[in-house]
Amino acid sequence: MTADTKSDAPKKRGTRAIKTLRGMRDIMPEDQKYWDYLRMQAREFSHSYGFRRIDLPLMEPEQLFNRTVGKTSDIVEKEMYTFVDQGGDKIALRPEATASVARAYIEHGMINRPQPVKLFYEGPMFRRERPQSGRYRQFHQFGFEAIGSLDPLLDAQVIFMNYRLLKSVGISSMVHINSIGDEESRPNYQKVLVSYYRTKRSELCEDCRKRLNKNPLRLLDCKEKDCQEVAKAAPQSVDYLTEACREHFMQVLDYLDEMDVPYFLDHTLVRGLDYYTRTVFEFMPDGNDEQTRQAAYGAGGRYDDLIESIGGREHTPAIGVAMGMERIINAMKAQEVDIPDATACEVFVAQIGEEAKKKSMMLFEDLRSAGLCVAESLAKEGLKSQLEVANKKGVKYALILGQKEIMD
Ligand code: HAM
Repeated sequence: MTADTKSDAPKKRGTRAIKTLRGMRDIMPEDQKYWDYLRMQAREFSHSYGFRRIDLPLMEPEQLFNRTVGKTSDIVEKEMYTFVDQGGDKIALRPEATASVARAYIEHGMINRPQPVKLFYEGPMFRRERPQSGRYRQFHQFGFEAIGSLDPLLDAQVIFMNYRLLKSVGISSMVHINSIGDEESRPNYQKVLVSYYRTKRSELCEDCRKRLNKNPLRLLDCKEKDCQEVAKAAPQSVDYLTEACREHFMQVLDYLDEMDVPYFLDHTLVRGLDYYTRTVFEFMPDGNDEQTRQAAYGAGGRYDDLIESIGGREHTPAIGVAMGMERIINAMKAQEVDIPDATACEVFVAQIGEEAKKKSMMLFEDLRSAGLCVAESLAKEGLKSQLEVANKKGVKYALILGQKEIMD
């Protein structure tokens, strides 16, 4: 048998089908109503609160994330999808978008616009994490960043609007919040934290022993049970804040009280990205067990030094948040949140007979171009089966085109 005849041979039974990559998912038509609804709410909130949309590339120079999210963070160290392109450039699929927003702020001279510059984005992010429920390798976020102000009201506003946004899609949440201080307060805190952890070295996991030298703050959010016990009794960052940081944090909490946002002071909350300063927070499902910590609906914080660290010409304080769309949608489904079906059409065009079928195509287009949402199932012959489709689609009116209507 020649090579040609071999390739022409019929496919062997049982040829393995190609599937999505691990941790990647198709979003099926029946789920789109959740996505549409959540996006619509996010866009409405961004509009009302004055955040203007920015679309950012999915690929960025790898260095952008090394210098912001941090070389010793899990994201950069273990989870980033990187490659060298044909021109030799080191590229990363974005694992998050705050660094890109900061890059864009500098690149487009947004410092010359009225401050704070408030930006909104949505889209896919990529992290090669171990997939599990609510954790994927391609996932979607929408996010809000307010750049160019240190006003604690902005911290509270970003938290408040997202708390309300979650509510608007039927999800109640609890805000976990902490302050990790700034360049001035952090060294003191890290010193006492490291001394405390040195006395507990034997109780720590392998990773935490490494963190002790490399990234001591991250000791506090280790997911191992024993390490969490050690974290519970660790010194707290709020006790080592400078006067200015403490004052800032107290004001944020004051505003949250005023706005009736329920929060929990979580001294082990430090966040896994290096760029944070002062306020950090996460939106948790109600409850405080390990499961919920993994399943934060969204998270954020201040990043007052980030813009300057990647070439901004002035110190530019900023605050932001990113919300995990899959996690919110999973919760909406689990809680059977009722979504208004935006795809339900007003009119259904049904036909009986060949002549009517021909005319109904034009009728369909006339109604559609007049601004109505029109549905059809013209490829079906029987009236009964067409009306069944209309029923399923929840259409209010059916126009039935038969022989007599054609003659008229
Ligand atoms: P993050 O905590 O890495 O923060 O992600 C924010 C949210 O994205 C998480 O709370 C979660 O809902 C969702 N998320 C993260 N990883 C995954 C995953 N593998 N699968 C599904 N959902 C996931 C950031 O990304 C920062 N950029 C937030 C921020 C904005 N800070 C300041 N501004």
